[in-house]
Amino acid sequence: MKPKVVRECAELHSLVKSLHRQGLRIGLVPTMGALHAGHISLVKESLKNSDWTIVSIFVNPTQFAPGEDFEKYPRTLESDLALLEAENEKENIIVFTPSADEMYPKNFYSYVDVAGVAQPLEGAFRPTHFRGVATVVLKLFNMTRADVAFFGQKDFQQVQVIRQFVRDLNVPIEIRMSPIKREEDGLAMSSRNRYLSSEARQRALCLSDSLNRAKEMILSQNCRSRSAVEAEIRKILEHPKHSIDYAVIVDPETLLPRPGDEIVLPVAILLAVRVDDTRLIDNLVID
Ligand code: PAJ
Repeated sequence: MKPKVVRECAELHSLVKSLHRQGLRIGLVPTMGALHAGHISLVKESLKNSDWTIVSIFVNPTQFAPGEDFEKYPRTLESDLALLEAENEKENIIVFTPSADEMYPKNFYSYVDVAGVAQPLEGAFRPTHFRGVATVVLKLFNMTRADVAFFGQKDFQQVQVIRQFVRDLNVPIEIRMSPIKREEDGLAMSSRNRYLSSEARQRALCLSDSLNRAKEMILSQNCRSRSAVEAEIRKILEHPKHSIDYAVIVDPETLLPRPGDEIVLPVAILLAVRVDDTRLIDNLVID
């Protein structure tokens, strides 16, 4: 069965009202579409944990800065719906795919601005990004009145930012994080991987390779020097056609480096690298 497609907030509102009246548990999976197995793993998690799953598909303009890939971001609604159809055995998936005008009507003036965990890393390189993410995600939480929302570790900092504003603003929702889905050779799945030429796709393996190498140094070789592990990561990422935004070992809670050079677990290793013109992110958490 094709999932039910809803495009308007008013229709979504009356649907979720009726689900709530029946005491049903709603799971939300926010996405920007161009769905792949990473997104589908979140949908499966939601189906396991809720009665109804709402998958939002919305390429959110406010999280892209001028000059980023908003215009060229893949929009593949028909194949997205086909992938979701395969998960919709119980006919309990709703796809919410609003227009930009529906989400941001004229005279829209309110934004969610998170400090702290939103400031380093992605926040430093894309200063308006998390404001757009937090705003659209809070709107989706309110519109769907979901009990639980599912996010991927692929965007580790994004999950921390969402957890922060949920706590700060007392948003009544549970946040779950699922592991990163990878291609067989290790590349983290991403809607942006389709921008890569086959040669660049091969080079992009340096991200997951460097994370694996770092893990090996820290766990097997017991190397506890942050600067030594970071230098090794950079060595693996370096290439004339790559530019490294960041490649750092940080405290997973604050996303800041701990004082001193000693690696104290748990740590998160976070990478953002431009491979040719495509900006890729990946990460690994070692507990
Ligand atoms: P998008 O990039 O479409 O990702 C939607 C969700 O899928 C996010 O929670 C992301 O972390 C997760 N995801 C992406 N690739 C994954 C992978 N390889 N393995 C597991 N999960 C993966 O993230 C966004 O959209 C937007 O910022 C959004 C939250 C929808 C707000 O606009």
